[in-house]
Amino acid sequence: MRKIKSSEITPEHIYLSRRTFMVGIGALATGTLLGACGQLNKQPALSLPEPLTPSAEADELGNPLNSYEAITSYNNYYEFSTNKEAVARLAQNFPTAPWAVTVGGLVRNPKTYDAGDLRKRFSVEERIYRLRCVEGWSMVIPWQGFPLSALLNEVEPTGQAKYVRFETIYAPEQMPGQKDGWYSWPYIEGLRLDEAMNDLTLLATGIYGRDLLPQNGGPIRLVVPWKYGFKSIKAIVKIDLVEEQPVSLWMAAAAHEYGFYANVNPDVPHPRWSQASERQIGESRRRPTLPFNGYAEEVAHLYEGMDLRKFY
Ligand code: MTE
Repeated sequence: MRKIKSSEITPEHIYLSRRTFMVGIGALATGTLLGACGQLNKQPALSLPEPLTPSAEADELGNPLNSYEAITSYNNYYEFSTNKEAVARLAQNFPTAPWAVTVGGLVRNPKTYDAGDLRKRFSVEERIYRLRCVEGWSMVIPWQGFPLSALLNEVEPTGQAKYVRFETIYAPEQMPGQKDGWYSWPYIEGLRLDEAMNDLTLLATGIYGRDLLPQNGGPIRLVVPWKYGFKSIKAIVKIDLVEEQPVSLWMAAAAHEYGFYANVNPDVPHPRWSQASERQIGESRRRPTLPFNGYAEEVAHLYEGMDLRKFY
């Protein structure tokens, strides 16, 4: 039978404040506890900043938030590793400041920003979003960030601009996965301009009130909650307004499996598995996957008249 974790029976904010408290007494008790439990061969845990209490314990559909620990220790980030549990450790010394983000292409005011300045320049807010990975797992994450539209309005796309192209940093000496010749680095993603301007589309700078850690795409990453997680590109250094639809890293690797739109759709299976359901990390049951990941009201109009099977 499945064991019930304390985080499942305790509301998250109480659980979090209890954790804060436990850290205090933990420092005193660690020696004794380790001695008593005898689990000494484990690697020391990575030291995480203490999460701050988010505004709610669940998303608007009632799905519980994932813990800060889960969100920061189970990551897809191929620049570091294909092993989700190894990413946090491999990324822990990755430098995220200073960090330049260049915004250009078909815009009237091209500009280079420092990521640290971006969060002061635009008003950062909390957004609790579901993240649905194309692999069939999901999380609920309290992000901090600002709408991408705020940045795009400042650089003023010209009438010719139809798409936004995003690029991750290329730093193979610090990102061992970028030495893997199987993928065409750097990681590239793209959105249609109206998708980019939708209010849900976020440039995230934090989680649980803390600056984004490297494993989550710090210092700045995209979050597009109605699309499969691979669209939410991490560690962005370049944003270009372009006329042609960008070719993403995943389209270049396997276009028949990972399309440009990649809207969450339970009715369109991935060629190798069903997308009808998902497992929220921390749970063992599967939940039904929702069209547009539950954000249809906000975004379905963007695709009116399009055959969503064809334009996967
Ligand atoms: N961005 C970059 N640069 N490299 C990646 O490997 N993985 C994507 C996306 N962004 C990825 C990326 C995938 S597949 C997912 S599901 C999410 O990041 C995972 O985000 P998380 O680790 O913060 O949960």
